Amino acid sequence: MSQTVRGVVAAAVGEPVGIQDIVIPDPGPGEAVVAIQACGVCHTDLHYREGGINDEFPFLLGHEAAGVVESVGEGVSEVAPGDFVILNWRAVCGRCRSCLKGKPHICFSTHNATQKMTLTDGTKLSPALGIGAFADKTLVAAGQCTKVNPAASPTAAGLLGCGVMAGIGAAVNTGGVSRGDSVAVFGCGGVGNAAIAGSKLAGASTIIAVDIDDRKLEWAKGFGATHTINSTNNDPVEAIKALTNDNGVDVAIEAVGLPQTYKQAFEARDLAGTVVLVGVPRPEMTLELPFIEVFGRGGALKSSWYGDCLPSRDFPMLIDLYLQGRLDLDGFVSETIDLDGVEGAFHKMERGEVLRSVVVL
Ligand SMILES: NC(=O)c1ccc[n+]([C@@H]2O[C@H](COP(=O)([O-])OP(=O)(O)OC[C@H]3O[C@@H](n4cnc5c(N)ncnc54)[C@H](O)[C@@H]3O)[C@@H](O)[C@H]2O)c1
Ligand SMILES: [Zn+2]
Ligand SMILES: [Zn+2]
Repeated sequence: MSQTVRGVVAAAVGEPVGIQDIVIPDPGPGEAVVAIQACGVCHTDLHYREGGINDEFPFLLGHEAAGVVESVGEGVSEVAPGDFVILNWRAVCGRCRSCLKGKPHICFSTHNATQKMTLTDGTKLSPALGIGAFADKTLVAAGQCTKVNPAASPTAAGLLGCGVMAGIGAAVNTGGVSRGDSVAVFGCGGVGNAAIAGSKLAGASTIIAVDIDDRKLEWAKGFGATHTINSTNNDPVEAIKALTNDNGVDVAIEAVGLPQTYKQAFEARDLAGTVVLVGVPRPEMTLELPFIEVFGRGGALKSSWYGDCLPSRDFPMLIDLYLQGRLDLDGFVSETIDLDGVEGAFHKMERGEVLRSVVVL
């Protein structure tokens, strides 16, 4: 029997999102239904609402969530009803050319539930990042459920499902930040501040936070930034050079998704340093760089999907660090809200008032 629950739906480009009744089918082979306990509001949800990802409206938003497995379909053995899980949006296949090369964290064939959730009139919903967790319950592929220690608070744990994992992983996995490194992070929202927290965990000795909003820079200090730069009136590249003996940083992380901040990251890095793009550009954006500098500076220009994480490896480990008091996930939670607070949370995000608003169910 399918069930009808509440979900936050983006019906058309730019239209305010609203709660609608959504129909959740029983889990089929390889699928699971999860009762959502908490789901953070990520900038990518807003990108969907603005038509910046694709035009497959209506979207069921929300993708940064923790909850309890309610039921599983045929053939599911990795999770069972009652398991506390964080939902991931890259369920690895184990069979594609990347998985077969021993690189499942960049699986080229990640999967979601096969069946569709719908509105009550039968309209098929597109769940954000194949999750759709601003809802009482959602249907996912069982591989999207990663079991973690149930002692963790769902409000904090869910954040590992997207932004915090993307940021920590951009630093530690993609950027390879290591002890003694210098790091600059451009954009200190949930993702950027997580990159700062990850750099601190990895032992970076200089961590420079760049943002245009002083509130974000204050928070950045709390997560481990050793220096902050408000780039509204200062050239961040010059300021970063001044802090690094005129060299630039070992790892420069772009966590905004704009060509100008990417250029700043490119220019603020030391010779043979690494640039990591974790911010998501809009489809119409283009980037122009002096080609000779791309060659002459050496090093690596990398993009980071989901922090190059392997959920089954990274989520339980980071939850353990959280429970040991070594990773401040609670510090990312600016406010908890109800399902009807998502539209308001988008506006607070745009005004820079929050790191993460988290829907608690
Ligand atoms: N690659 C991934 O897997 C992944 C995962 C999650 C989110 N993201 C992306 O990461 C980006 C950040 O997400 P978020 O949730 O932290 O968003 P956010 O809105 O909370 O943070 C963005 C930050 O950038 C700052 N900013 C804006 N313009 C700036 C500029 N010109 N210079 C410096 N700082 C500037 C803002 O003040 C804000 O603090 C988004 O593009 C999001 O889509 C990527
Ligand atoms: Zn694969
Ligand atoms: Zn996200």
